[in-house]
Amino acid sequence: MVKILVAGGAGYIGSHVVKAILKAGHQAVVYDDLSSGQRINLFPQAEFIQGDILDYAALKEAMSRNIDAVVHLAGKKAVGESMLVPEKYAVNNITGALNIINAMAECGVKHIVFSSSAAVYGMPEYLPVDEKHPLNPINYYGFTKLEFERNLEWYSRLKDFSYMALRYFNAVGYDAEGDIRGKELNPQNLLPIIIEAATGKRECLNVFGNDYETRDGTCVRDYVHVTDLAKAHVMALEKLMDGAKSEVINLGTNTGTTVKEVIQAAEKVIGKKLNVKYVERRPGDPAELVASYDKAKKVLGWEPDYKNIEDIVRTTWNMENLG
Ligand code: WQD
Repeated sequence: MVKILVAGGAGYIGSHVVKAILKAGHQAVVYDDLSSGQRINLFPQAEFIQGDILDYAALKEAMSRNIDAVVHLAGKKAVGESMLVPEKYAVNNITGALNIINAMAECGVKHIVFSSSAAVYGMPEYLPVDEKHPLNPINYYGFTKLEFERNLEWYSRLKDFSYMALRYFNAVGYDAEGDIRGKELNPQNLLPIIIEAATGKRECLNVFGNDYETRDGTCVRDYVHVTDLAKAHVMALEKLMDGAKSEVINLGTNTGTTVKEVIQAAEKVIGKKLNVKYVERRPGDPAELVASYDKAKKVLGWEPDYKNIEDIVRTTWNMENLG
């Protein structure tokens, strides 16, 4: 049994990671400032420290509790906001993340799994996108993720620790057992927006463009279930603890789904038609983005369990109806 500090463990992806860590028989310490993470996402079996990654003293105190490894998911993630308020992203996603690895180095913690993003690639030059694809982020959010990946690379050499940077594609879905109930406030992503349109919190769903060169004119994305993402974190942690070398790994499904297909799946699961409006393209949206997960399979032995968009949407809808 190992003890894992999960920075951002009360957030959407972080809480699923905590559940997977506990399920694998390990101990988890959640470090979260609850700025976007939520108390309702905390597991009673995990220790909880309310703290900010910008508070170096608090971070060091947490890190000195016999921690064996860290999962870092305490980042800001609104792409649009990162272009308007880059300083917020520089401080949280770069300075805050550096605090984590500096505290690790001071406390002798040697392994970290980092929540990175497909946003490090920018506009895809070929599909499916593998880890050798050029890195040209087109938004500041993606830049912060890449910047920290590069710091990890340097620190792994200079401070002798190992890391896995996991580049998520489009994270969706909820824990199928209903253990995680925190709905994201002000959701920015397609599926939670669809749910808001279905439940009347929004008047309609705006679809950004239907004149792309794709099979139905709407954008194609690689939707990967959050429980599958969580499983990959545990696999990455266990590999690192076993002495595996540092790696950068895509987490996607090698399957593209269009916006229309997500809407159709949602209408089927929810049992009603959505009020859909087709509007202008959103700047910066690639027509198609799909991951190769060959490396995840090879290095971690990981494969997604969820391969069907309807099954994925159902987990979100079921959570919505837990009350
Ligand atoms: C998905 C598709 C939209 C909302 C973003 C970040 C990425 C990663 C995941 C991470 C697109 C369309 C959406 C709406 C729509 N971030 N859409 N109407 O942009 O693929 O990826 O989230 O931490 O870095 O860029 O995700 O959910 O915003 O959009 O038509 O109201 O749905 O155009 O094709 P995206 P998304």
